[in-house]
Formats: sequence, C-alpha cells, structure tokens
Amino acid sequence: MGKQLISFEFEVLDGQNLLEEDDFTLMNHAKGALEQAYAPYSKFKVGAALVDSEGNIFKGANMENAAYPMCICAEGALLTAFNTSGSEATVLTVAITAHADSHVLNHPVAPCGACRQMLSELEIKQNHPIRLILMGEQGKVYIIDRIKDVLPIQFTSSEL
Ligand code: THU
Repeated sequence: MGKQLISFEFEVLDGQNLLEEDDFTLMNHAKGALEQAYAPYSKFKVGAALVDSEGNIFKGANMENAAYPMCICAEGALLTAFNTSGSEATVLTVAITAHADSHVLNHPVAPCGACRQMLSELEIKQNHPIRLILMGEQGKVYIIDRIKDVLPIQFTSSEL
C-alpha cells in the first residue's frame, strides 16, 4: 500500500523565436503541414513535423471525414508517412502546432491520448527518446524530453 508520485520537468519558452535554430525550423515545417490539413468539420487544423537522425523531415496534418470517427490525427499521419518511407533512422524530435478558426490558440496544444500511445510505440521500438515541441499560434512553447513523460503509465507490447 502507498502512494506514488509521478512528475516531470519540461522547458517553457516565451515564444517560438526563443527556440534553437533546428527546433525553430522544425516548428515552421509543422506550421506548413497545418496548411494542408483537411478539417472542414472541426475547423481545427493540426500540423506535425519530425526530424530523424539523418536530418530527414516528415510532415503530417489531420484529415477529417463526414463519418467523424474516421478522422485521422496529424500525429498519426506523420508517423504513417515516416514508417512508409522505410527509414531506419531514429526519430529525434516531433513538433506540433494547431490553428482553430473560432479562437486564437495562445497556448501549446497537446497531442491526444491516442497519439501519445502511437508516439510511445515508436519511442519504445527505437529505444531512444523522442523530444516533443508543442506550440499554439502564439504564446508559450513547451519542450518535453520524451514521450514517456506525457504517457507515464503505459500499455506496451510487454503485456501481450
Ligand atoms: N487532432 C489531431 O490532429 N491531433 C491530436 O492530437 C488531437 C486532435 C485533430 C483531430 C480532429 O481532426 C481535430 O483535431 C479536432 O479534434
């Protein structure tokens, strides 16, 4: 019996312009991906970009459907693109940003639980942490060292 505390530290920056050059560039790729989102129903566009250990950049955006549950998240699209490329490189960093038609996103937007699970699968598979950079349209930027930090009690293949 007893209680357990899980906590983690992450970096908070006041804006995108305070990111290191490579991270700044990656976030711009995520912003570019967002422009390709197909989100006529939620009018909430998400863009995601990753850089791997060979310097390759991949992008993903959400893609919705009139049958709502079929919506594909930006992160899923991103990981599918990376996987389909056949790259054996290690994914180092994923940047995520979003745009809502209805209001200005003035804080970082976090990946949904399902996307954390997908990112976690890759982090475990490659046995190397994946950094996460989260940003809205303006305001603070979060830099998180590894996916496990945002999905601390995980369901993994070791259960199967
Ligand atoms: N969405 C993402 O692309 N990623 C997430 O992590 C959360 C939500 C998308 C799905 C849907 O197209 C829209 O955002 C609103 O939920």
